[in-house]
Amino acid sequence: MFFGQKKVVAIDIGTSSVKLAEMDATRKGWILRKFGVVTLNPGWVKEGEILEPQSVSATIKTLIQSVKTKRKNVATGIFGNGVIVKRISMAPIEENLIAEAIKWEAEQYIPFDVNEAAIDHHVIRHPDRGAGENLDIILIGAKQEFVFRFIETLESADLKCSILDVSGFALANCFEANYGKVQGLTALLNIGAGVTNLVIIENGDVIFSRDSMVGGQTYTNELHKSMGVSVPEAESLKISASMGQEVPPEVNTVLASTTEQVVDEIRNAFEFFIATGGGGRVSKIYVSGGSIFIPKLVEEISAAVGVPFEVFNPFQQITYDEKSLTPDYIQQIQSISPVALGLAMRGMKE
Ligand SMILES: Nc1ncnc2c1ncn2[C@@H]1O[C@H](COP(=O)(O)OP(=O)(O)OP(=O)(O)O)[C@@H](O)[C@H]1O
Ligand SMILES: [Mg+2]
Repeated sequence: MFFGQKKVVAIDIGTSSVKLAEMDATRKGWILRKFGVVTLNPGWVKEGEILEPQSVSATIKTLIQSVKTKRKNVATGIFGNGVIVKRISMAPIEENLIAEAIKWEAEQYIPFDVNEAAIDHHVIRHPDRGAGENLDIILIGAKQEFVFRFIETLESADLKCSILDVSGFALANCFEANYGKVQGLTALLNIGAGVTNLVIIENGDVIFSRDSMVGGQTYTNELHKSMGVSVPEAESLKISASMGQEVPPEVNTVLASTTEQVVDEIRNAFEFFIATGGGGRVSKIYVSGGSIFIPKLVEEISAAVGVPFEVFNPFQQITYDEKSLTPDYIQQIQSISPVALGLAMRGMKE
């Protein structure tokens, strides 16, 4: 660990819940000390935008109290409509001039006003590339208004936003901590409530990240609309069906037709990668997110894009504090925790 660096607490503000993770770097690797989840009301966070900062902030306060974290420096992640990630190629220039050059280029790549955007970038290292060859750059544009809302929400909960990440990159960070730098192309698919993150990693570098506005809520809303049940009822019917419990046959019909819609969106995102990603074959999809339990969803995505899948296990390498967390609880949070864990490992070196 770097001397003097403050430890962070991860706050992953999702569409259906906020997750909190507190981790430490030890000689034996990363250990999860504390974890907590608190539900948000539908509509408070939508497509990556915090629409009800005060309600979200009050909810985060209750989470802090129940988890009893003392850390004030937060690592959080933006996602959805507030952020765009693009891979660009640029004539070779000196490292310290890249940021300035990108400002001029950004306009053509960012679908919103660059004057109201925060711009960041990563250079993808290709060890086999010569000095005179083009630079391969990942450009990240975030809507400032979205970012401010995150900062404001955290500040109202008496926290400080120290690290602002992109959820897809945090997911990739958690993947690397557990599986290392995998050779070739690997896809990560995090199917949440409102958003599905698709991240493609090549030899340890994120080369593509795109969020589709589909997830578990798509199913809940369809059940709510077509069966005339309340949203909470629709949610519980969905969970029951996913756990193999008996439900009215119409539930399964609606789930199956929604899956077609969701698979289409995700297939589009994959095709967009193939069209812009410079070829190469993705060898595996690691799936996470609370919605991987929807019957057959993951299988159908895998079949549609022709890539095998595996369930992402964030506790493959990361350990947890057995004094405060039980194996049952770890099992429960396995699918929903990767983004929060990836955030919690930011800012400190192992
Ligand atoms: N057993 C289950 N079967 C089916 N769906 C489930 C199950 N458990 C959770 N879900 C769904 O998973 C979603 C929550 O997952 P997750 O916590 O990954 O999303 P989020 O982080 O809140 O949202 P997002 O990442 O989209 O902003 C909800 O839509 C919930 O209904
Ligand atoms: Mg999420």
